[in-house]
Amino acid sequence: MQIITLGSELLRQKADKIDKFDEETLNIKKQMLEILVKDKGVGLAGPQIGIMKRIFVVHIQNDTERVFINPSILETSHETCKYEEGCLSVPGVYANVIRSESVKIHAWNEKGRPFTLEASGLLARVIQHEYDHLEGVLFLDYLPENKKKKLIEKFEKISGKGENAFK
Ligand code: NI
Repeated sequence: MQIITLGSELLRQKADKIDKFDEETLNIKKQMLEILVKDKGVGLAGPQIGIMKRIFVVHIQNDTERVFINPSILETSHETCKYEEGCLSVPGVYANVIRSESVKIHAWNEKGRPFTLEASGLLARVIQHEYDHLEGVLFLDYLPENKKKKLIEKFEKISGKGENAFK
């Protein structure tokens, strides 16, 4: 399974709700966690591998593997922080992004069990980044237009992609 990179329309589409917690859901979760390990990422969302479903996985060092299905972000803190982000779908490009310092999220796990989680720091950041993927939003979208343009050009140079990346 390959990671879809900047320029693909799939990264700009809204993902669909998962309505069954079955073998397929277990498989998707397993595959996503495998890719995360292989590509040394901290988070991965369905659309990044062409699965247009509302699911993402997070695995931060020294933390457990986490899966979020059909998530809703219930609260975001007014307090924000800035941190350098990257994305497996935009390899080679990093930028400081301002996000809420903490979030409260409700989701289901792969067995269909609902949970609510309050997260802060890096976990909160990755949750917000991955949630955005389900909405067709990328971390680049938070940057000023000129900075975004520069980074897209950098990505195009690195990846050898054409003007399609301007989306
Ligand atoms: Ni990403």
